[in-house]
Amino acid sequence: MHAAVVVSLNSSIERNTVTVASDFVVVSNRLPVDRTDDENEPWRRSPGGLVTAVDPVMRSNNGAWVGWPGQADVELDPFEFDGLQLVPVMLTADDVQLYYEGFSNDTIWPLYHDVIATPTYHRTWWDAYVKVNTRFAEAASRHAAEGATVWVHDYQLQLVPKLLRELRPDLTIGYFHHIPFPAYGLYAQLPWRRQVLEGLLGADVIGFQRVADAGNFARAVRRQLGFDTKAGAISVPTPDGGVRTAVARAYPISIDAAEYEDLAKRPDVRARAEEIRTSLGNPKAILLGVDRLDYTKGIRHRLKAYGELLADGRLSVHDVILVQVASPSRERVQTYMELRDEIELTVGRINGDADELGYSAIQYLHNSYPREEMVALFLAADVMLVTALRDGMNLVAKEYVASRVDGGGALVLSEFTGAADELTQAIKVNPHDITGVKDAIMQAIDMPQKEKDRRMRALRRRVRENDVAKWSERFLSDLNAARKEHP
Ligand code: G6P
Repeated sequence: MHAAVVVSLNSSIERNTVTVASDFVVVSNRLPVDRTDDENEPWRRSPGGLVTAVDPVMRSNNGAWVGWPGQADVELDPFEFDGLQLVPVMLTADDVQLYYEGFSNDTIWPLYHDVIATPTYHRTWWDAYVKVNTRFAEAASRHAAEGATVWVHDYQLQLVPKLLRELRPDLTIGYFHHIPFPAYGLYAQLPWRRQVLEGLLGADVIGFQRVADAGNFARAVRRQLGFDTKAGAISVPTPDGGVRTAVARAYPISIDAAEYEDLAKRPDVRARAEEIRTSLGNPKAILLGVDRLDYTKGIRHRLKAYGELLADGRLSVHDVILVQVASPSRERVQTYMELRDEIELTVGRINGDADELGYSAIQYLHNSYPREEMVALFLAADVMLVTALRDGMNLVAKEYVASRVDGGGALVLSEFTGAADELTQAIKVNPHDITGVKDAIMQAIDMPQKEKDRRMRALRRRVRENDVAKWSERFLSDLNAARKEHP
């Protein structure tokens, strides 16, 4: 890939063998592919932004990827899949319930997203989190060569950096946090707030999406542990009475922009975009929402604003349609079940009130699609609506921008996403302000072509310049600097 990737990357994994000792190891809760029950398609691409971003980094670094294959009680040896070396970690049905659905997605996820939903605190969930984090740390330790670099990802594995350092002091350890890190006043609710901070501080470099997240983390460290933090350098006492430095900084994540551009230029993808427009009746404007079905994404707020525009007569189903792709997510967690019911009730109501024979207000798709299809949808959509109430980054916004090789389209973007820090030429909204969201949708639909072009050009430049390769180069180069400080 890009010359500036600095770690030495000689994986010694042999194809289809279990002997693994890599110089570069990535650890995340999920592997990039999920095991399915479908014999024809036993592996399917995993959901979410983490996999989208880390996948190209792995491909260019030829390391080993340690993670869960997405199903309970699946025990597998390391294997190669689609050019990637995968090291599966087994989770039992209990682990899935207590560590994944419980502590990760019903405690940490809502707490770190500014308590949009109420976090639940259970000591049994915490115990499972400690146990599973230990299992991931042990797996990473087994597959890391002497002096290797290990890059741990996301909120499910916050204890792994410390556990791994204890097991293997020879390693250089990075951690990247893909979701927001909350303000201290909220973080302080967590009964295990000290342990989690200590877990993260096991890393040499701790990366966040936004400067604000890194600041919130440093403040929590000062308040809870009393360590000195200066300009992103945290002084961490070591067991031998010394002090080492952990770096905590912002590294905004991105996408492989060139890959989206290439797809958007492909004749079959362009033809598919045309086909989508035709099948929707060639309306004046196609609005698009693409989200995991998650309460952080502000889908309800978006639907409310759109429904009101139709009810007010500012929009008509003859001219406009909203395509909402909501990919299934965490379907056994209660809050997600309730959200799905609520969204589907709202969609049904709006369609019931606004539809006319042959004209529909919302085309709702509870499904996920291959990348080609998504790029065709992006090309077909006149307006992309990203109205998250809180989002670490939101890569869908960047995917939309990268796909608009034709320079067309308009992006409505919530100011509560990490992407808003970078994509300043988008139409910014506060999703809680329904009147503001309505006006932003109208502004996007009515925007003169010249202004659309100008904004999209600036957005595209930004996404192209700060792509995922830049992100990993910046992170790994700081990690490499930390490695040099190792004795
Ligand atoms: C977000 C998180 C990832 C997670 C993804 C999908 O992007 O940051 O860590 O993998 O959502 O969620 P899931 O629970 O299905 O892994």
